[in-house]
Parts: sequence; C-alpha cells; structure tokens
Amino acid sequence: MPKLGVNIDHVATLRQARRELRPDPVEAAALCERAGADGITVHLREDRRHIQEHDVVTLRRTVTTHLNLEMAATPAMIDFALNLRPDMATLVPERREELTTEGGLDAAARLAEISGAVLALQGRGIPVSLFIEPEMSQVEAALKSGAAFVEFHTGAYARAFHAGAPDAEFARIATAAVYSRRQGLQVNMGHGLDYDNVRPIAELEGVWELNIGHSIMARAILVGMERAVGDMKALVTV
Ligand code: PXP
Repeated sequence: MPKLGVNIDHVATLRQARRELRPDPVEAAALCERAGADGITVHLREDRRHIQEHDVVTLRRTVTTHLNLEMAATPAMIDFALNLRPDMATLVPERREELTTEGGLDAAARLAEISGAVLALQGRGIPVSLFIEPEMSQVEAALKSGAAFVEFHTGAYARAFHAGAPDAEFARIATAAVYSRRQGLQVNMGHGLDYDNVRPIAELEGVWELNIGHSIMARAILVGMERAVGDMKALVTV
C-alpha cells in the first residue's frame, strides 16, 4: 500500500490570489493529516506564486507526518533545504512560464548538476527524490546520481486514462517501477492522479508514496461548499 502525500500548494494559490491570510496552508496541512494523509508536500517555486518561505518554515514545525519539499536544484534552494531540513527533498524542473511542473527532470542531460545537489542534500541526511519521466535513461541517471528515490511523472498516464487508452503509459510506468525497485531505488509517483485514475497506480507493487494535489484540492472546494455557504447564510439571516 503506498503512502498518500498531499500537495497543498493550491491552498496557497487561492490565498495569493488576494494576498490575504486565508486559506492558510498550515491549517490545511493539519486537516490533511487529521484525515489520514501520510505526508505533506509543498513546492517552493522560484516565482513564489503559491507557497511562501514562511509557510514552509512553519510547516517544518507543525507537520507531524512527513514533509516533502519540492524544489529546483539551484544553490539558493539547496541552502534553503539544508537549513530547513525537510524529511525529503524532491528535485523538480522549473520554468517560470509553466502552469505546473509539465515534465520530468532531465537527469540524464543534467547529471553532474543533479549529482552535486544529491550529494549536498543526502550528505547532510536529507533523502532526495528525482521527479523523472518513467524512462530507462532517466532511471539510469537517477542511479548514477546516488538519489535514494525517484518519483515517476504520471501526467502522460493521467491524460491517456482520460482519453480512454491508458495501457501503454501504464505499462511504461509499471516497467520502470519494477526495474527501479530491483536496482534498489525507492519509488514514488505523482502528477495528474485523480479519483478516477488512481487505483491502478495505487495497486502497483512496491510504490512508497503517491503525491497528489490538484484533484484533492478541487474536490475539497466542492465537498466543503454547502457547509461554507450554510455557515454564512446563518450569519446573514437575521
Ligand atoms: N509530484 C510533483 C513532483 C509535482 O510537481 C506535482 C505538482 O506540483 C505533483 C506531484 C502533484 O500533481 P497534481 O497537482 O497534478 O496532483
């Protein structure tokens, strides 16, 4: 059974839309943990579009399960992580103009840089995961880098699932997962997983954690809507 890591970035997206104090990702993380989340994931992006440094610093104190910091492999972020000491650092590619993390890290092309980041972080006791496409060349690069974990980007599978033809993408992920486990890597997965497409991925053997954000946040808004409107209605009804 994989663990569930909940990515709470979009709680902060909503807050930043108004530069207000609410909704507070720290409060959201506590609710996620109360509901059974095994970990909390946040991505501190260079453009600070959602999660802010103060959120991560507070979360480091309040998260009682497992704090996974997604980050670019830059010197500034490596310093930040070394000070913060998250339970895991997931290295992701980052482009300012992208809507979300749109592809895996090209660990094969950036091997020296990524290996340096892995050494800096793992050398100080922070396990590193590389967010990569489920491709053999990327798995080989992850092995060379010394990272303890890989996280396979499931975006292509998620899209294929909703197009009605998930088999080829699913097989690609399953093959990469089996190979990675045999080579001694721990395997996480995430991106685009939702209430319709998650089961086959959750049933794969030997997956340590699934990281899921957007679909959970989208559902939370809808399942919470009646309560939120009802509470306000009671206040304005005199
Ligand atoms: N894993 C990683 C490395 C990510 O960058 C993201 C998106 O921020 C996710 C998982 C979660 O993706 P989604 O929001 O589509 O569930």
